[in-house]
Amino acid sequence: MLGPAAAPRTTAESPPIPPPLRIGALELSSRVLLAPMAGITDRPFRHLCREFGAGLAFSEMLSANPELRHTRTSAERLDHKNEPRPFAVQIAGADPDALADFARYAVDQGADLIDINLGCPAKKVCRQAAGSALLRDEALVARIMHRVVRAVSVPVSVKTRTGWSPKERNLEQIGRIAQDAGVAMLTVHGRTRACGYRGQAEHDSLAALREHIRIPLVANGDIDTPEIAHKVLEQTGADAVMIGRGALGKPWIFDRIARFLATGEHVGPPEIAQRRDILIAHLEALHAFYGEARGPRVARKHIIWHCQDLPRFDKARGALLKAQSAAEQRRLLLSYFATLMTPETDA
Ligand SMILES: Cc1cc2nc3c(=O)[nH]c(=O)nc-3n(C[C@H](O)[C@H](O)[C@H](O)COP(=O)(O)O)c2cc1C
Repeated sequence: MLGPAAAPRTTAESPPIPPPLRIGALELSSRVLLAPMAGITDRPFRHLCREFGAGLAFSEMLSANPELRHTRTSAERLDHKNEPRPFAVQIAGADPDALADFARYAVDQGADLIDINLGCPAKKVCRQAAGSALLRDEALVARIMHRVVRAVSVPVSVKTRTGWSPKERNLEQIGRIAQDAGVAMLTVHGRTRACGYRGQAEHDSLAALREHIRIPLVANGDIDTPEIAHKVLEQTGADAVMIGRGALGKPWIFDRIARFLATGEHVGPPEIAQRRDILIAHLEALHAFYGEARGPRVARKHIIWHCQDLPRFDKARGALLKAQSAAEQRRLLLSYFATLMTPETDA
């Protein structure tokens, strides 16, 4: 068992403890959720974040295109063996029937919640009029939501941006459509499609939406510290926060934020030896999941995220990123961490 790890702590003023979050029949153990991130939130990463207290972890986005259903990518993205429940699967597409059909398939494969992607800005996805491109066609959004909600017995959530562009913001309409269609939760990334990832995410749109919408709302975008999470929840009246990039190489962020929200307690990052154990366990899970050939390649970006703030990583990085085998990667990492745990001597 990796986390949550003990670490130095200080205390701040205690905010009130929020009750568990309900999404339809599901009850989440925490109001701090892991965002779907294609190429990142695979089973090993989700599992790690759940161990550190993420209340829900979304799969990488899956295309509803029936021709892609039986590809290796789809099989891997739906794989949730031995993962803590509930398991949330995100689907993307523009055809209401195909999305409904895929949602049923995902539930047959074990999904406990279906999330519809209305936020992806990628050209490849928007060219198919899917992801954030859907925000320009509210009638189609309504058809999609109605069809998917009726197709499955599990709760359906939606993840969206605030609009197509700063001049075409329609979060309020999207929120109303979602609520009327029976969507059980709405996550808002506080940027428009045109904003990409530039600038600072804004959460005022979500605060305005809260005035009109009863279903659980989740704030997302640039939330990467307990203080920011607390501030965003207070300012928006959202029910939960969703963390994406803030969790890269820092899976303990879920526990840190949840503890701060519940008690006002501030817990620092784990000690070096714990960070070594967390990373090695993550690597082993990646190697096992992707196999000897792909595992070390997929692991490289995670190694960088885990180690980039540690001393002398720039010296170890080159060799680590060249390692071709799981054993070599593991050996180099252990020897790098050993240098961090022995006091440096003058040459
Ligand atoms: C590499 C990467 C992949 C992403 N893939 C998805 C995805 O598959 N589905 C989705 O809804 N959002 C996706 N996102 C967006 C995130 O879920 C999230 O909305 C965004 O990163 C803002 O949150 P953050 O500031 O906490 O990272 C992705 C983001 C990144 C950085």
